[in-house]
Amino acid sequence: MKLNSVYDCSILKLSKIHNRAGNITILEGMASLPFDIKRVYYLYDIPAGESRGGHAHKALYQLVVAASGSFDILLDDGINKKVVTLNRPDYGLLIVPGIWRELMEFSSGAICLVLASHLYDEDDYIRHYEDFKSYKNDL
Ligand code: TYD
Repeated sequence: MKLNSVYDCSILKLSKIHNRAGNITILEGMASLPFDIKRVYYLYDIPAGESRGGHAHKALYQLVVAASGSFDILLDDGINKKVVTLNRPDYGLLIVPGIWRELMEFSSGAICLVLASHLYDEDDYIRHYEDFKSYKNDL
């Protein structure tokens, strides 16, 4: 977990059933998802210019989807950084444990849907960047 890099975070193509009445995406039995979904939450009504995140997780895996609108996710493993733009509901970003992330540049009306591998646990968070750097360096 500590050794995970931003290159272990990947964009996954999700299902999409399309017909003239619209689209549906189903997240079920995904072979490409390396965790069972225990928790779902979503961010919405994010004021212009705000950013979210600004933390890392020790054990939590997440799949992040722009269910509506768009936003950017900055990923940082302590050495490498990568910015991913999410703007389609049928793509998700897999974030593995041990990655600092910041979510920013939310479009108006954006909805950030998150599927998570564990229930909420404040002890799993690393909320200060200096603590994150020590955690990554302390192998
Ligand atoms: P946090 O994860 O810090 O938000 P973000 O990374 O989007 O900026 O969570 C914000 C608040 O919500 C914080 O007080 C903890 C609480 N929270 C829960 O109680 N349960 C949850 O599942 C999540 C994700 C957050």
